[in-house]
Amino acid sequence: MEFITKVAAPETIRCDCLAVGVFSDGTLSPSARRLDAASKGAIKAAIKSGDATGKRGNAVLLRALDGVAAARVLLVGLGAADKFNERAFAEVVREALRSAGQGTRELALAATEWPVAGRDAGWLARMLVAAAREAAFRTDELKSTKDELAALPAAVSLLLPARDAAVEAALKQGVALANGIELAKRLGNLPGNVCTPTYLGEQARNLGKECKLAVEVFDRKGIEKLGMGSFLSVTNGSAQPPRLIVLKYQGATRSAAPTVLVGKGITFDTGGISLKPGAHMDEMKFDMCGAAAVLGTLRAAAEMKLRLNLVGVIAACENMPSGTATKPGDIVTSMSGQTIEVLNTDAEGRLILCDALTYAERFKPAAVIDIATLTGACVVALGDVNSGLFASDEALAADLLQAAAGAADPAWRLPLDEAYQEQLKSNFADMANIGAPGKAGAVVAASFLARFTRNYRWAHLDIAGTAWKTGAAKGATGRPVPLLVHYLLGQAH
Ligand code: BES
Ligand code: MN
Ligand code: ZN
Repeated sequence: MEFITKVAAPETIRCDCLAVGVFSDGTLSPSARRLDAASKGAIKAAIKSGDATGKRGNAVLLRALDGVAAARVLLVGLGAADKFNERAFAEVVREALRSAGQGTRELALAATEWPVAGRDAGWLARMLVAAAREAAFRTDELKSTKDELAALPAAVSLLLPARDAAVEAALKQGVALANGIELAKRLGNLPGNVCTPTYLGEQARNLGKECKLAVEVFDRKGIEKLGMGSFLSVTNGSAQPPRLIVLKYQGATRSAAPTVLVGKGITFDTGGISLKPGAHMDEMKFDMCGAAAVLGTLRAAAEMKLRLNLVGVIAACENMPSGTATKPGDIVTSMSGQTIEVLNTDAEGRLILCDALTYAERFKPAAVIDIATLTGACVVALGDVNSGLFASDEALAADLLQAAAGAADPAWRLPLDEAYQEQLKSNFADMANIGAPGKAGAVVAASFLARFTRNYRWAHLDIAGTAWKTGAAKGATGRPVPLLVHYLLGQAH
């Protein structure tokens, strides 16, 4: 899909289809008003007939209007003007693409006239691309017969009243964002037998070549040398070798402190000896979506040439049961020196992350954000709407929440009181890896990570409920790449 801007009066623009907005109270967007005048009332007639309701989800295709150069005009419902928010904008864009007609190769949208409170034309352009590319995403990579889906326009143009360099730049940013989201989705959707830790390492190397990132991939020996006894304990049952993947993007002076993104890369989570039940276990191939989000975000940031420094750290391995697997009660020594009693081998995400978080210290980071499909408890608390946000730093929390709202990739902050640390007490080690069943599991997992992040500003995103969809639309969502990219856009100078 190609994205361009077009500067023209709406009635004169030549294209297969031009989409203009109508509000549910019958108000026309400026372009719709002009088309109505040029066509001697064809738009208002469509409203009067009851065909065009202006409600969201309603889209009416008109053909060959007198006085209008576009072959088709699509009237898309925007709903109530005061309820038109970030999410509504994306929905309307997708509706326009779906309804443009199968003969439409080039769709023009007067989308900068669909205003979202507090968002400028650059934001609208960026989100237009992200929403359009979302609609075009396919999951049939490994099918021998490809899915038969309705064709979407190959070219999407944004109709502007005048040339606007900021909007043009924003379209390019939108493409970079969409590329990052798609990388995260593609990796997330790949099955565990294809997307192994080794494969993730290769993908990181490829990304490094493509986007000029410095990439280092540690194998088991390298991870041993670093003293990551907690991380390694998770790999004990697996025939697949682990990888610690480090990627560096330099967009600012060498001395500028980097933001470090740490990703959970469990390429399959069986639970280990604390084996998971069988139902839906296939979905544990998505347990590397944190890692995928790190790669996707680096990809987008590099393509945007953001003026900041960024490091990605990914701990990747499988969590399998076997005769050599870690057993409940085993005690392991983390890279930080703190010992951990592994009471449940299914609480493995925190065991790999704690060592990656200790490793992050060496970058003297401006901030560290880890991203992980960490707890079922977070799904219970927030469902598939909000990612769970935890932060030891108020300003970082505020910036991330603002980015979440701006990206229409919502997150909700959960607490980190010291009192939750009680649950992690162990009689035999510095801490246990689980707390009391049924008691704030998402918070306790974050509290475990907090013990390894005392030396820098830190936030944790639990994406267990938001990284993929279950059911008929099963598939990775690419979240929270939009949130992270918007955060970085706000940090870059
Ligand atoms: N990867 C899972 C978390 C998960 C579960 C994400 C279901 C999405 C859906 C994680 O490794 C895990 O198994 N966590 C346990 C922790 C528990 C043993 C304290 C969980 O949430 O049940
Ligand atoms: Mn687990
Ligand atoms: Zn897991």
